[in-house]
Order: sequence, then structure tokens, then C-alpha cells
Amino acid sequence: MLHGRSAEISGLDEVIVRARDGSGGAVVLRGEAGVGKTALLDPAAARGATMRVLRTTGVEPESDLAFAACTGCCGR
Ligand SMILES: Nc1ncnc2c1ncn2[C@@H]1O[C@H](COP(=O)(O)OP(=O)(O)OP(=O)(O)O)[C@@H](O)[C@H]1O
Ligand SMILES: [Mg+2]
Repeated sequence: MLHGRSAEISGLDEVIVRARDGSGGAVVLRGEAGVGKTALLDPAAARGATMRVLRTTGVEPESDLAFAACTGCCGR
């Protein structure tokens, strides 16, 4: 159970609903280590499980390359 994140959960769900209806969107979820980014995204991905869910992870050697983690999965 996540505490105090109802606005963030609603925002993610809105993007999921729009995506399901055919409107793309993007969310930048940023914060310090341990603040709860993954804890928000894991359940959101599960709620979107009727759609294709792609996941990617940034790696240190590519930290100078903007959006490098996306180029392998979204750039096609
Ligand atoms: N709002 C919250 N309510 C309850 N537990 C939370 C909340 N936010 C984070 N946590 C808990 O804190 C821990 C760290 O959260 P999480 O792993 O999601 O952080 P993170 O931002 O993804 O960190 P990192 O940047 O290291 O990947 C987890 O055990 C998570 O369940
Ligand atoms: Mg995380």
C-alpha cells in the first residue's frame, strides 16, 4: 500500500486510459533514490497489463546520452 501518492497514481492511470484509447503520452517520474518511483510504476504497469508493456533500464556508461534507454525499445 502506497501512502500519500493518490495524485501520482491518478496521473499515471489517466495516461494509461488515454493510451488504451489510442492517444500516446509520456510521464517523467523523477526523484531521489528510494523515493518510490518503482513502487508507483510496478502497479501501474500491472494495471496496463492488457496492453503491451515495454520496460527498459538506464545504464551508467550511457548516462551522457539523452533518452539512451529508450532507443532500443521505442526508436523503431
Ligand atoms: N509512498 C510510499 N508508501 C509506502 N512505501 C513506499 C512509498 N514510496 C516508497 N515506498 C517504499 O520505499 C522503498 C523504495 O521505493 P522504490 O524502490 O520504489 O524507490 P525508487 O524511487 O524506485 O528507488 P531507486 O531510485 O533506487 O530505483 C520500497 O520498499 C517502497 O515500497
Ligand atoms: Mg526504482
